[in-house]
Amino acid sequence: MNDPEAFAESAVAEIRESVGDGRAVIALSGGVDSSVTAALAYEAIGDRLRPVYVDTGLMRAEETTEIEATFGYMEGLEIVDARERFLDALAGVTDPEEKRHVIGEAFVREFEREARAIEADYLVQGTIYPDRIESEGGIKSHHNVGGLPERVDFEGIVEPVRELYKDEVREVARALDLEELIAERMPFPGPGLAVRVLGEVTEEKLEVARAADTVVREELEEHEPWQALAAVIGKGTGVKGDNRVHGWIVAVRSVESRDGMTARAQELPWETLQRVQSRITSAHPDVARVVYDVTHKPPATIEYE
Ligand code: XMP
Repeated sequence: MNDPEAFAESAVAEIRESVGDGRAVIALSGGVDSSVTAALAYEAIGDRLRPVYVDTGLMRAEETTEIEATFGYMEGLEIVDARERFLDALAGVTDPEEKRHVIGEAFVREFEREARAIEADYLVQGTIYPDRIESEGGIKSHHNVGGLPERVDFEGIVEPVRELYKDEVREVARALDLEELIAERMPFPGPGLAVRVLGEVTEEKLEVARAADTVVREELEEHEPWQALAAVIGKGTGVKGDNRVHGWIVAVRSVESRDGMTARAQELPWETLQRVQSRITSAHPDVARVVYDVTHKPPATIEYE
């Protein structure tokens, strides 16, 4: 992509052509990719677009409120409370790839339901190039690609930013005057906190992951990581007050990257790391230990699952 404005124009034309005079639903996640895709689709088909945000219960703190604030300008914004359905579907699922498939399937079923309500035939998605490469290359099936169920009840899936890298999507966001907040937002995976709690997804682990994520975002913002995250990676022994506890181990990861395909673990000051540790262990009574991940990608991936 050379010129983000020219790209936006041709993407709008492409969406118009694909959807014709039909209707479409778009999945909003609050991330840059889906926000840019939604803006392009809204420009292309206006009120024939139904923007849908599914509250999966796997999102960060305040995510739903932020979505309402950011996308409230679009007519017909629909916020679906699917927390129970997602948690039920994930019960007992421990394998990372299976988690992604379960989540992919649960998402599509939500969109199908919304689509039926307005008789939409198309699903618009913010899939980007690395999502496809990593899914096709067998690294991870990103939930909006490899995680799709085989039978999808849509006439077509429209993916206007499918050839772009993350930094290019950000350029388009700026060209579209989307708030800096969105353009500069840290990437957040579609399956949300489900891939940041190892093994089975439980309400308890999600609560720890959410509390830790808030600390990480607040404390590391000034170091401008490409992406920073906290993951619940297991349990270990600790001492809290006068008691031995068997508490959660939280891993903190902060990386520098250009496009997420490779990444370097960020060198952070000891004081910063200690502050993060101290805030996370006090944010939740059942956290016994915080570790900082110094592994680059490769060999590790950015997310834990
Ligand atoms: P990994 O962990 O593969 O992450 O090194 C590279 C970038 O992709 C994000 N990621 C995902 N995004 N669905 C998404 O939409 C997924 O299943 C998924 N898995 C990882 C990750 O947050 C990082 O920015």
